[in-house]
Amino acid sequence: MTGSDSSNPTGTTTELAATDGAAPAPGATPGLTSRVTSDDAVPIDEADPGADHGYDGELSAILISADQLQAKIADLAVAVAADHHLESPPLLICVLKGAVMFTTDFARALPIPSELEFMAVTSYGSATSSSGVVRILKDLDRDITGRRVVIVEDIIDSGLTLSWLLKNLATRGPASVDVVALLRKPEAIKVDVEVRYIGFDIPTDFVVGYGLDYNERYRDLPFVGLLGEHMYR
Ligand code: PRP
Repeated sequence: MTGSDSSNPTGTTTELAATDGAAPAPGATPGLTSRVTSDDAVPIDEADPGADHGYDGELSAILISADQLQAKIADLAVAVAADHHLESPPLLICVLKGAVMFTTDFARALPIPSELEFMAVTSYGSATSSSGVVRILKDLDRDITGRRVVIVEDIIDSGLTLSWLLKNLATRGPASVDVVALLRKPEAIKVDVEVRYIGFDIPTDFVVGYGLDYNERYRDLPFVGLLGEHMYR
């Protein structure tokens, strides 16, 4: 890993460089996001990263370790909590399925109460990229009128899913809608969306683990890894 997260507002060390070079997301909290490059990946010859979970030889590297994820989630939780009050607990909307690991760890790291809702959407497009045309597979179970909503996303790739979701939720009369995203691929963004809290800016490599899948596999890994090219080429 390179550098240190010296601008981290909470002082938690993640051993990853603060974002530089990549364009910050509109509305992003300064100093919260760490930049991860392909050079930060720990290659497979040091260890087989997926072997503990039965994915022997399928991943080429760990990009963000479980410890780094948890340290960052603690930082994100502190940042979100600082913007909310006990009187109006945030309503966390977990965007299934990818965000499920992040949401459960994030809710547990929040030093204030929160409430949980789940939404499942699917984007028409190829297996690896979305089109921006989104269909709701599972909608919220309750009215969000007047609520302070925080969308919890695992990854912003093109930004199309999130852009659609923000517009959709805005029609339902919430008091506010913020976004906390664990990962963002700045080079893949097609539409700019306001994202207040971002954990890591990552390269456009094929990432799996910690909720992220390829053909529904690898979501169960506790870290974010790079899928070996031989698995999808
Ligand atoms: C992933 C991810 C985001 C979306 C991001 O979901 O969880 O919701 O893609 O991509 P975008 O920025 O290009 O729109 P996916 O549709 O793969 O479903 P999943 O969460 O069930 O894996």
